[in-house]
Amino acid sequence: MNYKLYTLKDFGDERGSLIPVEKGNNIDFDIQRAFYIYGTTQGTVRGVHANKFSEFLMIVISGSCKVLVDDGFKKEVVELNHPNQALYLDKMVWKEMYDFSHNAVLLVLSNEKYNENEYIRDYDEFLKIVKGNK
Ligand code: TYD
Repeated sequence: MNYKLYTLKDFGDERGSLIPVEKGNNIDFDIQRAFYIYGTTQGTVRGVHANKFSEFLMIVISGSCKVLVDDGFKKEVVELNHPNQALYLDKMVWKEMYDFSHNAVLLVLSNEKYNENEYIRDYDEFLKIVKGNK
């Protein structure tokens, strides 16, 4: 599977917690884009696409959510429920984010700027591409 869930080092002390995200330390790509999702309504499913070029690092800064990760061959569900968890998703991975808690804030970092043309929003098209590549 083209994803990795790992724990970020927390430099917390008696003042509180601090977690840096830094290229070469705990993220491999140059960050070109950041966006965050919050205020999701109950039953919301976000994502529901794959990306030809964008890699992502997802961190739930607050609350929790689930992420369905699908490479076309295998589907797995990852639960993010702590700000020290980071979920790396490679390009050409189908993702769906759901089960957001009411206070969820999902921060997403990417190696690519936003370009709608590299989003694959049709699951059959995604399957055709990944199965054709193997
Ligand atoms: P959308 O792709 O539906 O978000 P998600 O993958 O979380 O379900 O994007 C919603 C809107 O926000 C859409 O009009 C495009 C815009 N957008 C940007 O401008 N930049 C971005 O980095 C992202 C992810 C979305």
